[in-house]
Amino acid sequence: MSKLIKAVRGMYDSHGMDARLWGRLDRAYATIMQRYAYDAVRTPIVEPVGLFARAIGEVTDVVEKEMYVFEDRGGEKLALRPEGTAGVVRAGIENGLLYNQIQKLWYAGPMYRYERPQKGRNRQFHQMGAEVFGLGGPDVDVELIEMTAELWRELGILDGVTLELNTLGQSDERRAYRDELVAFLRANFDALDADSQNRVDTNPLRVLDSKSPQTQALLTDAPTLHDFLGGESIAHFEALKAGLDDAGIAFRVNPRLVRGLDYYNRTVFEWTTEHLGAQGTICGGGRYDGLVEQLGGKPTPGVGFALGVERVLLLVEALGQIPADLQRDADVFMMATSDAGEATIRRLARELRAHSDQRVAVLHGGGSFKSRMKKADRSGARVLVLLGDDEQANAQVSLKPLRGQGEQITIAQDGWLNALADMEQ
Ligand code: HAM
Repeated sequence: MSKLIKAVRGMYDSHGMDARLWGRLDRAYATIMQRYAYDAVRTPIVEPVGLFARAIGEVTDVVEKEMYVFEDRGGEKLALRPEGTAGVVRAGIENGLLYNQIQKLWYAGPMYRYERPQKGRNRQFHQMGAEVFGLGGPDVDVELIEMTAELWRELGILDGVTLELNTLGQSDERRAYRDELVAFLRANFDALDADSQNRVDTNPLRVLDSKSPQTQALLTDAPTLHDFLGGESIAHFEALKAGLDDAGIAFRVNPRLVRGLDYYNRTVFEWTTEHLGAQGTICGGGRYDGLVEQLGGKPTPGVGFALGVERVLLLVEALGQIPADLQRDADVFMMATSDAGEATIRRLARELRAHSDQRVAVLHGGGSFKSRMKKADRSGARVLVLLGDDEQANAQVSLKPLRGQGEQITIAQDGWLNALADMEQ
């Protein structure tokens, strides 16, 4: 036997229940985006490597350590996208979508980061995201957060997540703060963990969300960015909080939330959970008012978020929220008891499919009555639609509940869809 070729480490196949649940998430997400009048945008998975270095920041983990970079046959340096925002901004500029316009866009697809794989952290993972351009006010920040909260509610996981919120101010405010923070970190250099020591000069704000308890303890005495914010940034943050209150969305202000990508200003947020272990952030986002200009466009405010599909699916499962109907292969199973009824049962299936979006399975492959019944039962369907020789002769059909209580009934084929609908109530 030849040696098996396996999937790349950190990259997974989705099938069975997982794929069904993913399909449900896809539909729920698209429905919410439509409800808020957002338009889909699809961008390439591969982009010039420079796009990400410029957008995300040279001294971020993503750009320094995690990108899949390669040269194509023409010698062009390309990268598999590690996130969606940079590509959407590039597309917006290139297609003339941003200047003096308001754009509300959404996307979904695979992203690639060469991280150490563990539960909830993959090298190929999937995001669903949204980006809004041309609106600088806090009301849009609220709208985006409200959309994510609506999705969590629909998936049954809202009670299992926490919204963490912070403001990073504007770049001049951050610069002044950065100087003070660096002075503080230098004064306490020996007490920092090694990772944080490396960041003091390159990306000191990232020290704030260090995982080291020793560094975190030290930071209680560090200067806070909020003390460096100007009136406009404070007003933006206050209006954001008031808007969330109005929308009935609970949040926790976390002054140490800084995010791992460099393009943010003002609003940043994350939805986190304690049910997934170390990889507890299911969604992150924020405002990036300087990014369009940084990538060569005209100054245009931007704000958005992205959720991690795999983590959301894990959370739905962890909280026992997989919908019952996804646990069966079909909702309705239809079969004739002998080959003579095949054509009729297919005609009836056609009628049902034309009138409902239930999952309707028809028996394939024939077999004895016993083996047919076994297949019907294994499908997990709620109702069996049965065509025996008698029913066939009398233009009738039988409906048999397969789960729970209820009697089998035999009715005329004419009008059988109504009887089925009654039975399923
Ligand atoms: P991010 O926080 O890097 O933000 O990623 C967003 C989400 O993607 C994370 O919260 C997490 O759920 C998921 N994720 C990230 N890395 C992995 C991984 N290795 N395995 C599994 N899931 C992962 C962004 O990417 C920004 N582009 C979000 C954004 C949009 N900000 C503004 N607009």
